[in-house]
Amino acid sequence: MADAFKLELSTVSSGYGAVDVVNEVSLAIRPGEILTLMGKNGMGKTTLLKTILGFLRVGKGKIEVDGAPITDRKPAELIASGIGYAPQELPLFQDLSIRDNLRLALKGDRDLASALERVYGYFPFLKDRLTQNAGTLSGGEQKMLILARALMLRPTLLLIDEISEGLQPSVVQNIAKALRDDREKRGTTILLVEQNLDFALSVADRWAILKLGAIEDESANGPDSRSRVLQHLKI
Ligand SMILES: Nc1ncnc2c1ncn2[C@@H]1O[C@H](COP(=O)(O)OP(=O)(O)OP(=O)(O)O)[C@@H](O)[C@H]1O
Ligand SMILES: [Mg+2]
Repeated sequence: MADAFKLELSTVSSGYGAVDVVNEVSLAIRPGEILTLMGKNGMGKTTLLKTILGFLRVGKGKIEVDGAPITDRKPAELIASGIGYAPQELPLFQDLSIRDNLRLALKGDRDLASALERVYGYFPFLKDRLTQNAGTLSGGEQKMLILARALMLRPTLLLIDEISEGLQPSVVQNIAKALRDDREKRGTTILLVEQNLDFALSVADRWAILKLGAIEDESANGPDSRSRVLQHLKI
């Protein structure tokens, strides 16, 4: 049998208006695999994630989840079907509490208590600050809340966009542990967009480099990965 991929992109192109920013990207991630997609600023990493999630139209190519095409499906539908998204920009409801931001990730309150306990396990500070408004959290705390919110829905596929940007090392380590634990416990497949090489390679099984919207290099994470990735990220 052919490999069953959790997420498979085949020659996907997309962009804004007539201009393609993502250029014939082919990428496949196995169930339970963590792949980090790295690349310099403006190379199309966020555009690619937004294309997978249906925020941008696929101009060309095909996207499949568990072998079924998702091209042309709506973001809300994809998120409800188990694709978690931790976006690069801060998308929290600033005037709502931590608890309400987390609660709104779920459709109803049916699994609320167990989902909350699970994400408190990863980020205990959330439990101590339940009634604090998201807008009054520090930048790092907001990043953790964004990831916690994405994890509330028990995603089978998680797309994460530069979560470590501007965070102190201990918070980055906390996030790395949460991702490894979630993959371990639930088999979560993760596409981790990053520029923090050490963080990315501390959690990823494989890495790929996006340059000007195209995959320039890709490999299993091994002893020579650091120097190879570094070459691509150098100014
Ligand atoms: N809404 C938009 N309209 C037009 N062009 C856009 C839009 N958003 C992004 N772009 C352009 O698309 C290109 C890729 O941007 P994108 O945000 O995907 O890069 P990135 O790899 O995520 O960069 P960074 O690491 O800085 O987040 C850039 O040239 C950017 O200016
Ligand atoms: Mg980006």
